[in-house]
Amino acid sequence: MPALCNVEGRLVPPEQAVVPVLDRGFLYGDSVYEVVRTYGGRPFEMERHLRRMERTAERIGLSLPPREHIVSELSRTLAAAQNAESYARIIVTRGEGQFGLGAHLAEGLHRLVILVRPLTPPDEQVYARGMTMAIARTRRNPPQALDPALKTGNYLNNILALREAHDAGADDAILLDLRGQVTEATTSNVFFVQRGVLVTPPLALGMLEGVTRAVASEVARGEEILVREEPHGPEALAAADEVFVTSTLREVMPVTALVFLESSGEQRRAVADGKPGPMAQRLRAAFRRYVQEKHFGSR
Ligand code: PDD
Repeated sequence: MPALCNVEGRLVPPEQAVVPVLDRGFLYGDSVYEVVRTYGGRPFEMERHLRRMERTAERIGLSLPPREHIVSELSRTLAAAQNAESYARIIVTRGEGQFGLGAHLAEGLHRLVILVRPLTPPDEQVYARGMTMAIARTRRNPPQALDPALKTGNYLNNILALREAHDAGADDAILLDLRGQVTEATTSNVFFVQRGVLVTPPLALGMLEGVTRAVASEVARGEEILVREEPHGPEALAAADEVFVTSTLREVMPVTALVFLESSGEQRRAVADGKPGPMAQRLRAAFRRYVQEKHFGSR
C-alpha cells in the first residue's frame, strides 16, 4: 500500500481523500499537526507527540478529539497501510463552522485527518556527506507573534526560508531570531559541538520543542556528554567542531557546510574539515540503541 488517508474515520487512498474547501485548516492554516514515524511498526514517542499536540491545541483554543480516539485511529490506519515502517501525519483542523475568521464560528469543532506513507528516511549517503544549511535572511517568527513552539498548519515562515535555501543550492535553512541568534532549521532542531560540549539554542528564543531534540539530549547526558542550552549567533556554528540537526525523519544528521545569505553575496563556509564529525555519529548510534531498547526490547 503506497499511502493511505484517514479522513474522519474513512480510510481512502490520497486521490480520494477530500476535505471541504471551507475547512479552516485549508482557509487559514487553522490546525495543529504532528509527524510521527514508526520503528518496528510502532509509533515512536507517541506520548511526547500527543502532549505537544495537546499543548498547541490548548494555546490556540482548539478542541481535540479524545486522545484515545486519535491513538486508535492512527493504529487502525497504520495496520491497514501495512507498510514495513511508516511516516504518519496527524492533523486536526478547527473544522468548518460558519464562514469568517473568528474562531468562535467553529466553537468546539474539529476535523481529524491522518496521512500514512511508507517511511522514506534520508539516504545513508546524506549522513556520510552531511547537509548544507543556508543561514536564511527570513527570520523565525518571534514568539510574541506566531510562537514557533506551536506546531500548527501555518508553515509559511519555514517555507519561505526553505525557498531561500534551495535558491542558494543548500539542502535546508537555519533561521535566526530577530536579534540574529540561531533558533532552528525549517523542520529540525540545531546542535553544535564546542570543545566536546553539546550546545543547542534555548527554547525561549522561539522554536519547536523537538521530540528528537529532547531524546537526543537525554541520550547524550546518558553518555556523559555535557549538554548546554545557550543562545549563539551563526558565527558560532561556523566556528564549531561539528554541527548537526535532529528531527523525527533525520534522527541525528550532520551539517558539513553553511551558506550565509545575509552578508553581501552568498558566503559558503565548511564546518570544521567539511566532513561529518564523531559526535554526530556517536549520538546517532546511541539514539539507535535507545530506539532498539524501547521498540525491540534489547540492545
Ligand atoms: N518537523 N522544528 C520544526 C519547525 C519542525 O517542524 C520539526 C519537526 C522539528 C523537529 O521536531 P521532532 O524532533 O519532534 O520531529 C523542529 C516534522 C518532522 C515535520 O513537520 O515534518
